[in-house]
Amino acid sequence: MEKVKNVVICGAGMMGNMIGLVFSSCPDFNVTIWNRREKPCLEVIEDNLNQLKDKGIITEAEVKDRMSRINFVFPDKGEEFKNADLIIECVAEVMETKQDLFAELEGICRDDCIFATNTSVMSPTEIASKCQHKERVVGTHFWNPGHLIPLVEVVKTADTTEEVMQLTIDALERAGKKPIYCKKDVPGFVANRMQHALWREAISIVEQGIADPKTVDDAVKYSFGLRLPQLAPIENSDMVGTQLTYNIHNYVLKYLADNHEPSPLLQQMIDEGKMGFASGEGFLKWDDESIAKSKKDLNEYLIKMVYGK
Ligand SMILES: NC(=O)c1ccc[n+]([C@@H]2O[C@H](COP(=O)([O-])OP(=O)(O)OC[C@H]3O[C@@H](n4cnc5c(N)ncnc54)[C@H](O)[C@@H]3O)[C@@H](O)[C@H]2O)c1
Repeated sequence: MEKVKNVVICGAGMMGNMIGLVFSSCPDFNVTIWNRREKPCLEVIEDNLNQLKDKGIITEAEVKDRMSRINFVFPDKGEEFKNADLIIECVAEVMETKQDLFAELEGICRDDCIFATNTSVMSPTEIASKCQHKERVVGTHFWNPGHLIPLVEVVKTADTTEEVMQLTIDALERAGKKPIYCKKDVPGFVANRMQHALWREAISIVEQGIADPKTVDDAVKYSFGLRLPQLAPIENSDMVGTQLTYNIHNYVLKYLADNHEPSPLLQQMIDEGKMGFASGEGFLKWDDESIAKSKKDLNEYLIKMVYGK
């Protein structure tokens, strides 16, 4: 295969729909979204395209054009699968479901069709384990909201060929994404390892009574969080110098959280029914209005950051 052209997304949930929206941005691609039981819900995609239109990022004509270029199919896996160059599975985060889907698709798709998994935390190598052609399986970890966060972690398994890595990266770039090359299939890939190192420390600070939950978030929002999109850790370390980085780590690392189990505070909160947005209380208190505001503010912020609008 020279280039990926025919893309099939399996699973029309939150991520599958948004990944379909992403690939519709480039007329190079024929995009199909497949769902197992019912017709995929096109309204979700249209609503998100309309939000981009309302912000002046795309035109009314582009919304129509992009919707017309997404093909929705269910439940049979027909011609679209036979002609697929790239399958991206976005089905439930259940190992067996993903393994069985790829094993089944080997009987339908061409031998050179790439099988990509959008798993958040599972090993793509393990997901490939029931396949004959393990070299075609690759991780493509999109972030939520899939149409606004540019990053896609492209994860090489023990068997993925370099050709599959490059074809996948090229397709994602043409779809307007920022793919990064993850050389090893490790839990958390690249970005979630860093994100959860920060969450572990944030929760530990609350647990130790060093600061209350809102203060912890404020400390991020009004300091390094502000500059992170411009100055990320590695460049920052070079900026202050590796000697200073060494000296700071030499002093402070022994005091930082290094627990290998979830915090007991999280377990206590779960036992007390403090489930976050879902129950109206987590670390902070929530009602319908503040939940809607949190979601809206995030989308608007991301649109501003990504599109400058
Ligand atoms: N939600 C996120 O923030 C996020 C971010 C990155 C990656 N992911 C990953 O993307 C994948 C999909 O997540 P989502 O949030 O879109 O989930 P979702 O629950 O919104 O959608 C899952 C879809 O899979 C389908 N499905 C479930 N079981 C199936 C089966 N046995 N066979 C075929 N289809 C089946 C469902 O019908 C649904 O369309 C998961 O692997 C998830 O871990 C999620």
